[in-house]
Amino acid sequence: GGSKTRLLPSTSRLLVNYAQPYRSQIMDYLFKPNFGASLHILKVEIGGDAQTTDGTEPSHMHYENDENYFRGYEWWLMREAKKRNPNITLIGLPWAFPGWVGHGKNWPYDFPDITASYMVSWILGAKQYHDLDIDYVGIWNEKNFDSKYIKLLRHTLDKSGLEKVRIIASDNLWQPITYSMLVDRELAEAVDVIGAHYPGTTTVMEALKTQKKLWSSEDYSTFNDEVGGGCWARILNQNYVNRLMTATISWNLVASYYEDLPFGRDGLMTAEEPWTGNYVVESPIWSTAHTTQFSQSGWTYLQTVGHLAHGGSYVALTDSKGNLTVVIETMNDHSVCIRPPLLPFNVTPQNVTFQLKGSIASIRELQVWQSRFDFKTKKPFRFKKLSPLNFLGMSTRGDHFGEPGVPKVKWECATGLLNGYPLWKNTVVLGPKNCWAAIGPHSFELAQFDNFAVGAKL
Ligand SMILES: *[C@@H]1O[C@H](CO)[C@@H](O)[C@H](O)[C@H]1NC(C)=O
Ligand SMILES: *[C@@H]1O[C@H](CO)[C@@H](O)[C@H](O)[C@H]1NC(C)=O
Ligand SMILES: *[C@@H]1O[C@H](CO)[C@@H](O)[C@H](O)[C@H]1NC(C)=O
Repeated sequence: GGSKTRLLPSTSRLLVNYAQPYRSQIMDYLFKPNFGASLHILKVEIGGDAQTTDGTEPSHMHYENDENYFRGYEWWLMREAKKRNPNITLIGLPWAFPGWVGHGKNWPYDFPDITASYMVSWILGAKQYHDLDIDYVGIWNEKNFDSKYIKLLRHTLDKSGLEKVRIIASDNLWQPITYSMLVDRELAEAVDVIGAHYPGTTTVMEALKTQKKLWSSEDYSTFNDEVGGGCWARILNQNYVNRLMTATISWNLVASYYEDLPFGRDGLMTAEEPWTGNYVVESPIWSTAHTTQFSQSGWTYLQTVGHLAHGGSYVALTDSKGNLTVVIETMNDHSVCIRPPLLPFNVTPQNVTFQLKGSIASIRELQVWQSRFDFKTKKPFRFKKLSPLNFLGMSTRGDHFGEPGVPKVKWECATGLLNGYPLWKNTVVLGPKNCWAAIGPHSFELAQFDNFAVGAKL
C-alpha cells in the first residue's frame, strides 16, 4: 500500500453567503473529523481572473505589482477546513493565469521564472496572511505541462524555503507526463505525485513504473443522487483496488453554485440556496465517511485488496499500530459515473470470509457501519451502525449522530445604502422566489474582485 488519503476542490461560490449557523453546519459535514465526510484533502483553485466552468476566481496578483491575499472565498474555505481538521492536506492548482504572467499571451511557460514566482507568492501569502501551510501545488489544470517549468518551480520553491511543498503533475491524463518522467530523471525528482483526472480506476503501466504516488486528482463529477453516491463509493475503493491510487479527489466539494450552470449538483452535498439556508447532506457524503472516518492520511493499504467473486470490491487499511479498517462496496449498475462509464458487471448475494493473520490476528471484534442504496423499496439508509461482528469488521470509533438539516430562514425587508445615501428602505421582498444578493457574511471580507465591499447589518 501507499499512504492513503482522500479528497477535495471547490465550486463553493454560494457557500460563504449562508447565514450562521447553517454555514458552520455545512462545513462540519464536510470537514469535521468523525462527523460527516471528514475529508482528508482540500484542493482549491488558485484564482486566475478567468471563468473556470462554474465561476470566476480572482487572482492574488491582477498585475505584476499587485498583491492581495483576501480576494475570493478560497482563503476562507481553507481556514475553515483547517480549523476543523488541522491535519487536512491543502492543495492549490491554477486553472488560468492573469495575462501579465505570459506577457500578454495565454501561455505560462514562455517566462517560467515569472510563473514560478507567481506560484510562490500565493503559497507565501497563504502562510503570511492566513497561517495556512500549503502541502501540494499543481501545474496547470487539464492543460499542457512544460518540463523546464516544473523543474524551475521545484527549484524556486526550494530556494524560497518551501522544500516541504510538493508538486503534483500534471492534472490531465496519465500521459505524456509519465513518459516524460521516465526519460528525464530531474523531472521525475521534481514531481512527487502523478495526478490524473477521471482515470476510470485505471492507469498506464508507465505510471506504475515511476514508483511515484498515483492519485486520481479529479474524479466523480456526477449528479449527487443515489447513483452519484454509488459511483463515488465504487471509485473510492476501486481506484486503489484496480490501480493503486491512494487518493481520490472529488470535483466538486459541494454544489454551491446555481444548478443550471454546467455540471449542476455534481458535489458531495448540495448547498445552493443561501437565501433560505436550506442545504442537503447527499448520499456521497456518507459514501465518503466509510473510508474517511476510519482512516487518516498516512495510513497504508494492506496488500489484501481486491474484487469479490460475485461483484463489488474490498480494501483494508491500517495505521500500522494495530488498527484495521475494511471498506467493502457491492455497488451495482446503479453506480455508474458520468465519465468514464462503468463496465458491465453483476453483483449477486454472496457470503465472504476474511481471515485475519499476522499482527491483526488478535482482533476479535469489529464495529460495523453500513449504507444501503435501495432503489426498489426506496428505503435507503446511510452510515448506520450495526451490531459488532465477531472478528469481521472496521476500526472502532465513538458514537455517531447526524441527520441532514433543512433549516429555513425568512428575509422579509430590505434596506439599501450606497456611500451612506439611502437607495431604498424597508422594502418588502416577496419575490422572486429564488434570488441572490451580493451580500456576504463577515468572514468573507472583500467580495470577489476589487473595489467592492459590502457591509451587512442584520
Ligand atoms: C492529526 O494527526 C495526528 C498524527 O497522525 C493524530 O495523532 C491526530 O489525532 C490527528 N488530529 C486530528 C484532528 O485528526
Ligand atoms: C489505534 O488508534 C488509536 C487512535 O488513533 C491509537 O491510540 C491506538 O494506539 C491505535 N492502536 C490500537 C491497537 O488501538
Ligand atoms: C450464506 O450463508 C448462509 C449461512 O450458511 C446461507 O444460509 C446462505 O444461503 C448463504 N448465501 C449465499 C448467497 O450463498
